[in-house]
Amino acid sequence: MRLLFCSLSICLTLALSQAAPHHHEAMEGEGHPENRPPRSPSGDSPNRCEGIDFDAITPDEKGITFFFKGEWLWRGFHGDSEPLNSSFKEMDDHHHLGHVDAAFRMHHEDNPNEHDHIFFFQDDKVFSYFNHTLETGFPKDIQELFPGIPTHLDAAVECPKGECVTESVIFFKGDEVYHFDLKTQAVKKRHWAHLPNCTAAYRWLERYYCFHGHQFTKFHPVTGSVVGNYPKDARSYFMRCPKFDHGSNDTDRERCSHVNLDAVTADDLGKAYAFRGQYYMRLDTQRDGWHAFPISNVWKEVGGDLDSVFSYEGKLYMIKGDQVYIYKTAAHYTLIEGYPKTLKEELGIEGPVDAAFVCGEYPIVHVIKGQNMLDIDLSATLARC
Ligand SMILES: *[C@@H]1O[C@H](CO)[C@@H](O)[C@H](O)[C@H]1NC(C)=O
Ligand SMILES: *[C@@H]1O[C@H](CO)[C@@H](O)[C@H](O)[C@H]1NC(C)=O
Ligand SMILES: *[C@@H]1O[C@H](CO)[C@@H](O)[C@H](O)[C@H]1NC(C)=O
Ligand SMILES: *[C@@H]1O[C@H](CO)[C@@H](O)[C@H](O)[C@H]1NC(C)=O
Repeated sequence: MRLLFCSLSICLTLALSQAAPHHHEAMEGEGHPENRPPRSPSGDSPNRCEGIDFDAITPDEKGITFFFKGEWLWRGFHGDSEPLNSSFKEMDDHHHLGHVDAAFRMHHEDNPNEHDHIFFFQDDKVFSYFNHTLETGFPKDIQELFPGIPTHLDAAVECPKGECVTESVIFFKGDEVYHFDLKTQAVKKRHWAHLPNCTAAYRWLERYYCFHGHQFTKFHPVTGSVVGNYPKDARSYFMRCPKFDHGSNDTDRERCSHVNLDAVTADDLGKAYAFRGQYYMRLDTQRDGWHAFPISNVWKEVGGDLDSVFSYEGKLYMIKGDQVYIYKTAAHYTLIEGYPKTLKEELGIEGPVDAAFVCGEYPIVHVIKGQNMLDIDLSATLARC
């Protein structure tokens, strides 16, 4: 992985076509929904472009996102509805309830019997599916698997360690929120009165969304805080609907197609990024799709228009003009105190540079500047202290 990104970072003309962040294609990514013909059971097939308050939203183990409402589901970000029992048969056989209350894709790497399984909630029962097949022994009582979590839930979403403090699941009922620690089974109940009551909750590309009515609100999984202009209309973002398109106000984002990248790198946690202008994209999230987000969401001090990015010993170096910003790599990036500094001060060279990369664990950064490549020994630089 490291070596691959070594060679990619000097390739500044890499076309973004395979990672194009036009929002529809980007969101589907590899998880492209199969184009199944819609089947018609009893009742009229609902149209999600008319505005639906979903019962549940979850990706499956292949990264295809399923939307649920009553006895219907949608697979992927576009396409028609299908009967719930066409994909998750036993759930309907069991109770004939014709709906799910909540669903999430388990993230529990310590437990391969649960990791990546989809958990559905119906009244007081929980169903575990893998490969769209009900696991033996299910359904079980919610109390058995998630003691302390109420029945008749509204929403649920996984929250891996790093995003939550511990490997967790967040459950929603009314305006109460329950953080369930998967290891200790401890439950922390919170009252997030500022957040609308969620009918569905969804984690996508490490972001957390509460769906309510046909709208959604992005929230912080630990504090519940909402930053930015919410709610937004789900039809402009999470499904393809005529007359709904958030692209109209995102010209920068759209211009990312068929253009050059500013920088590409992988950090020490294996997260791979491409940067261009004011936007970045994660390259290691193919399963759940690709999407461009503002650089300032993650690295607020540096903003955008980077010349080069590389990572070394748990730090991300971002070079912009004659400045270098060094961030500590963790679940969230933090600017190391005292930065930015000038390139001259940090690496002993004058900016601007065209590209920079490190190969494997070697403490040498190769900096490309016009026709020249400079090799700088990072073990001798200030950021080590
Ligand atoms: C799904 O449910 C409908 C009625 O609710 C029924 O007619 C149909 O046979 C069911 N399909 C499957 C595959 O069980
Ligand atoms: C998944 O299910 C399908 C049919 O339901 C089956 O053919 C396939 O072998 C299963 N795959 C795995 C990995 O269990
Ligand atoms: C949210 O849930 C609480 C508790 O269940 C309920 O009292 C309140 O009316 C709900 N709010 C809305 C807007 O539905
Ligand atoms: C674009 O966004 C600005 C500010 O957020 C808003 O005032 C404007 O109406 C939006 N334009 C369109 C076409 O949505």
